[in-house]
Amino acid sequence: MDVVSTLVVAFWAMLPAYVPNNAAVLLGGGRPIDGGRTLGERRVLGDGKTWRGTIVGTAVGVALALGLSELAPTVGDAANVTLPTFPLPVAFALALGAMLGDIGASFLKRRTGRERGAAFPGLDQLDFVVGALALTAVVDPAWFGEWFTWPVLAVVVVLTPLLHIGTNGVAYVLDLKQEPW
Ligand code: CTP
Ligand code: MG
Repeated sequence: MDVVSTLVVAFWAMLPAYVPNNAAVLLGGGRPIDGGRTLGERRVLGDGKTWRGTIVGTAVGVALALGLSELAPTVGDAANVTLPTFPLPVAFALALGAMLGDIGASFLKRRTGRERGAAFPGLDQLDFVVGALALTAVVDPAWFGEWFTWPVLAVVVVLTPLLHIGTNGVAYVLDLKQEPW
């Protein structure tokens, strides 16, 4: 695969993992997953991780993946790349995995004394990537191996923090998010 195709495949394959967290920012809120419980002095997860955000974020990611699967042949032809389609379990793994990665990061943030909204450079940008890739690799190893080749993974690790910083910066400027990370 040439460089441009690698970039396009990486972006396409990760889109169902990129969108859930943003959907949660827009549509989340309400009852926190940890129900207010603490572990030691700190909240288990904090008020920023809610049932609604997690469920709606996952649903939006799955819906997007199914839409992309329909568009893959047409867009792939136009761009002259073979693009992945997303079987339902893969769609679910990418979206839910992204949400779980973000939740795991909040757990680590609270254990390291960071309040809700505090930055954790590196973790903030890649938590959802690790969650999405890990769950997808477990749910469908063959699909994972076919599309997340080493070059694609390398692109994902470099591209994702840039996209994440960009979209969160925009969300912050538009007053949709409290902090720009
Ligand atoms: N959100 C949600 N449910 C999730 C993830 C996010 O409802 N599973 C919503 C919350 O309103 C949250 C906002 O999206 O405040 C921003 O998400 P994020 O930056 O991940 O949370 P923080 O509030 O910064 O909390 P934390 O320090 O735990 O990351
Ligand atoms: Mg945050």
